[in-house]
Amino acid sequence: MIRKMSLRDIDPVVQAHLLSFPKFFLSILGPRFLSLYYTFLCSDPDGIALVGLNQTGRITGFVAGTTNPRGFYTRLLKKQWLKFAAASFTAVLKKPSLIPRLLGALNYPKENPAGLDVAGLYSIGILPSDQQQGMGRQLVAEFLKEARNLGCRQVFLTTDRDDNQRVNNFYQKNGFTVKRQFITPQGRRMNEYRTDL
Ligand SMILES: CC(C)(COP(=O)(O)OP(=O)(O)OC[C@H]1O[C@@H](n2cnc3c(N)ncnc32)[C@H](O)[C@@H]1OP(=O)(O)O)[C@@H](O)C(=O)NCCC(=O)NCCS
Repeated sequence: MIRKMSLRDIDPVVQAHLLSFPKFFLSILGPRFLSLYYTFLCSDPDGIALVGLNQTGRITGFVAGTTNPRGFYTRLLKKQWLKFAAASFTAVLKKPSLIPRLLGALNYPKENPAGLDVAGLYSIGILPSDQQQGMGRQLVAEFLKEARNLGCRQVFLTTDRDDNQRVNNFYQKNGFTVKRQFITPQGRRMNEYRTDL
């Protein structure tokens, strides 16, 4: 079953994020940062945030993004920058190299090629124990449906080009095609995907 994410889902969503993206940037910033991030996506009028539940009613996956990608991180931090700074403080103390990346994220939306009718799918994760059972496909399908209902005509997302064949195959099988390739300031080679709605 797929339904909209609500504030009471944030803890299980954060757990699912940490388990499905163990070494990724947002996970390194820690659970408090993730909690603020998903709370924003879940409450923002432009946000699309969905959860997938198994037969016992447990959250096994989530997908989240926005119908208004340009300026997303600025909006995210505008009112809550102090809370985000406090939430990432310990991680930054342990790993100061995170600072340029955090600041870079603020510029990212300016480079975002999306127009007003392009939604961004920012995050999808399924608990490792529940992968390969069709939940990811269903969550993507519902995300696209929701974006279309909200007036969008395309959805974009980015993912690593290297050592990420399974995820690239997953998006291609779900109707996405590579629109552009780029290298992040950290040297990661990325694919930007689009799909028409
Ligand atoms: C990428 C990810 C979201 C895919 O979700 P998923 O639920 O595992 O994907 P699905 O089950 O819908 O589809 C994947 C495969 O399962 C197969 N599948 C679907 N339903 C199935 C079922 N009932 N029984 C068995 N296999 C099934 C699909 O055919 C597909 O296999 P294929 O690639 O060989 O064709 C998930 O693996 C994940 O969370 N990964 C870690 C986080 C991540 O990398 N996210 C994306 C970052 S950009």
